[in-house]
Amino acid sequence: MKLVFQFGSQPDLSRAELTSRFPELAAGHLVAGRFFIVDCSESPAWLMEQLGGVVKILEVVEGISKKPDEMIVHLADHILKQTTEKPKVVYGVSIINAPELKGVGIALKRAIQEQSERSVRVVVSRDPELSSATVTLEGLLPPRGVELVFLKDSSQIVAAQTVAVQAFGEWSERDYGRPGRDAKRGMLPPKLAKMMLNIALGAREPSSVSVYDPFCGSGTVLIEAALLGATRLFGSDILKQAVDDTKLSLEWTRKQFNLTDVNFDVFKHDATQAAAHMKRESADVIVAETFLGRPLKKGESLSAGEKQELVTLYNRALKSLGAVLKSDGRIVLAIPFQVAPRELLPLHEILEGTGFTVDPILNDAGLKTILYMRPDQRTGRQIVRLLRGV
Ligand SMILES: C[S@@+](CC[C@H](N)C(=O)[O-])C[C@H]1O[C@@H](n2cnc3c(N)ncnc32)[C@H](O)[C@@H]1O
Repeated sequence: MKLVFQFGSQPDLSRAELTSRFPELAAGHLVAGRFFIVDCSESPAWLMEQLGGVVKILEVVEGISKKPDEMIVHLADHILKQTTEKPKVVYGVSIINAPELKGVGIALKRAIQEQSERSVRVVVSRDPELSSATVTLEGLLPPRGVELVFLKDSSQIVAAQTVAVQAFGEWSERDYGRPGRDAKRGMLPPKLAKMMLNIALGAREPSSVSVYDPFCGSGTVLIEAALLGATRLFGSDILKQAVDDTKLSLEWTRKQFNLTDVNFDVFKHDATQAAAHMKRESADVIVAETFLGRPLKKGESLSAGEKQELVTLYNRALKSLGAVLKSDGRIVLAIPFQVAPRELLPLHEILEGTGFTVDPILNDAGLKTILYMRPDQRTGRQIVRLLRGV
């Protein structure tokens, strides 16, 4: 089947996540900057659980005619066949890049009424696109209802049906509902943590890897690793409070999601010291959001000296982490950067003498690293993947 992965607000990172974890999907192509069309035989519901950066997965409706009238008749029939749960037919339409299809929702209603006696409800929105929340709340997944998404791919129209939607309620529960949160220390959005983990894992089976976060804070990375299926988790932080918070978060996750196989070892440790607590080459992947520096007041930025201190901290941490990582392991870091005026920390200095080199994240787009930022934030994160080499 042909699937369309609809990426969230960071499409480059979402594509890097998808094609790192599932390299066989790299052959797909991108439409309108955030819809990735590819042949795929995996279950969409399972794929959705694995990924942090995909908001919807659609399945292309095959065999539709290029003639608009025939296309509408075919799709009306498709909607009728998919909505089997209730007598009423419920559907919604999203239109991407194809303003000429504005009236398609109403045309479908007429065609459905010509083919069937069932009553019809069309879910409308002010935007040309229905959100994942609307799709879920209005029940627009078969057999209850249908969302059809029309996408213009060069000159051709692709019609696809939504088959999986990101579980926004569960993400929010993990983000805000768990214990041990500490926003002051800085917390990684859980979706970003999952994307980083998938970028680090590559094609490795999550249940067979050990994951280490040497700047664990309140444990966001390790929670997402546990939910992906990793059972050997290590975390450390220089602050005892962070260690306690991470333990609390992981206990909560284990209970909440019934993850009886998960084992974790969380300890107080300075990431720049040789990782005495852990055996040599015991981590398959290291994923971390590094220390961001002191919290900033409005309009303030770190001084040149403070930025240099961060560079030195990361450099020394990487030198020590070399002993803990397996020889074919990967490190994925979220390194802070100043959004405006844009100023990245010097990566060559961070890597100097560490034995690590950048493993480009999205080679086909010429992106060695990817910048993650939210519109209202002054500090963004540069996502970097490292492997051993000079
Ligand atoms: C940005 S926070 C990480 C937050 C974490 N990703 C989360 O979502 O909860 C960075 C953490 O690095 C810790 N830290 C600072 N210097 C450190 C060092 N030298 N060694 C280990 N941890 C350190 C801080 O205590 C802080 O908890």
